[in-house]
Amino acid sequence: MNAISNDIEIIKTKNTKINDVDFDNLKFGSVFSDHMLECDFKDGKWQVPKVVPYAPITLDPSAKIFHYGQSIFEGMKAYKDTDENVWLFRPLDNFKRLNISAKRLAIPELPENYFMDGLKALITVDKNWIPKKDGSSLYIRPFIFASGKGFHASPADAYKFIIATAPSGSYFAGEIRVLIEETYSRSANGGVGFAKAGGNYAGQFYPTQLAIEKGYQQVVWTDDNTHEYIEEAGAMNIFVRINDTLITGPTSDRILDGITRKSIIELAKSENIAVEVRKISVAEVVEASKNGSLKEMFGAGTAAVISPISGFGYKNEDFELPKLEDTFANYLKKRITDIQTNKAEDPFGWRYKAD
Ligand code: PLP
Ligand code: COI
Repeated sequence: MNAISNDIEIIKTKNTKINDVDFDNLKFGSVFSDHMLECDFKDGKWQVPKVVPYAPITLDPSAKIFHYGQSIFEGMKAYKDTDENVWLFRPLDNFKRLNISAKRLAIPELPENYFMDGLKALITVDKNWIPKKDGSSLYIRPFIFASGKGFHASPADAYKFIIATAPSGSYFAGEIRVLIEETYSRSANGGVGFAKAGGNYAGQFYPTQLAIEKGYQQVVWTDDNTHEYIEEAGAMNIFVRINDTLITGPTSDRILDGITRKSIIELAKSENIAVEVRKISVAEVVEASKNGSLKEMFGAGTAAVISPISGFGYKNEDFELPKLEDTFANYLKKRITDIQTNKAEDPFGWRYKAD
């Protein structure tokens, strides 16, 4: 595919906000860099993207995003190493997944060069926004939504693809307690759970609020049919360690094919950690907790990387995870972040130089 870098117009801000940002105390995704990439779909095709100052956008009240929720997104990160080189992690996988989501939501698919060249142009312009502190990074949010007008319940004729970025610290402050869900579902067979569709997250908020009221931070989603199998932890894939085996559920219609998840599977295998990709029943996790073979549970995703779970609730009972000195979670988190930040060799070819 031809590069379009030379065709991308770059309109720079006259008022940088960078001096207002405390790079030593960054929250997750709450301050935004100076620029964004903006690209319109109209007249039946994607127009060449532009880098423009980060700013609010104006939409018609009948824009279909507001009514029918045609909206998808991705989450990725850029890292800067000690020599100021800029790195992305498996960005083509995010591009491919964006188009998988687009197809399912009847959104026109984006050409690869618009995504990749647009992303690189944006990151180059806002290179100074990439934090260098350990544990911080530039969180990148590519998204597409229906900007086309009309109350007719059918796909829009116009869309916007935007990439916005936010220098960010960690997603969770520490370990999380989770509630295994018995009533609500995140996704169903034949649905959109495998897509990163905005509505999937809206549907999670209410059950998550109920879990928070009970003293947990996240919900562990179970299969919609029986609620007997664990599937995801909030907006993360979930891993369980029983004895010395790491187990995660297979991806399906209902489970997002996480890039962190598949990287952890490959990394663990390459370190001779036993990995099983198979269904995990709640009964098995409860039984393993009772007999002491449940060593760890953790969530895995771009925003949180690996987030250890300290305990879980199920049917009004609380279960604690043991406090281990050496955990797979810590080990694998260090391995993966060292690769992402160019502190370690990358035998898998995951790191992608972005500048
Ligand atoms: N599962 C859900 C529902 C998510 O929203 C995410 C976040 O992106 C993940 C899993 C993890 O995916 P990835 O590792 O590609 O970020
Ligand atoms: C990510 O991990 O990048 C996500 O997209 C999760 C999120 C909803 C913050």
